Amino acid sequence: MYSEKVMDHFQNPRNVGEIEDASGVGTVGNAKCGDIMRIYLDIDDDGIIRDCKFKTFGCGAAVATSSMATELVKGKSIEEAMKVTNRAVMEALDGLPPVKVHCSLLAEEAIHAALWDYAKKHGIEIEGLEPPKSDIHEGEEEGEEY
Ligand code: FES
Repeated sequence: MYSEKVMDHFQNPRNVGEIEDASGVGTVGNAKCGDIMRIYLDIDDDGIIRDCKFKTFGCGAAVATSSMATELVKGKSIEEAMKVTNRAVMEALDGLPPVKVHCSLLAEEAIHAALWDYAKKHGIEIEGLEPPKSDIHEGEEEGEEY
């Protein structure tokens, strides 16, 4: 059911924890299952993401996608991090079962929420970034095919 990469990131998640005085923190939840994800970003003066950590109170797929998402945004510019979509995270994990696709949305939303927090603190605008949703509403995961 799960790819080897999903199992690996679930069993040995990378970048678990918190960053003290993080440049941006984003917390999102999925209303349907009640799972919560928080992402911390450490962004330097050049706008490069030096470090990224996460905490997830959620299912195995949420843990694996957060782990992979943190790996994908580390060392990237903000613009590049904006391209780390749930689809990109799923591809990097060699796919997720259809019923677990909504879990991967949490990682994308949490990164965006943390970038939003960073932008707000620094009085800047990030192109294409929308205000974070407080949760992912039912139905959004339906109709997506991967
Ligand atoms: Fe809630 Fe996966 S079941 S995030």
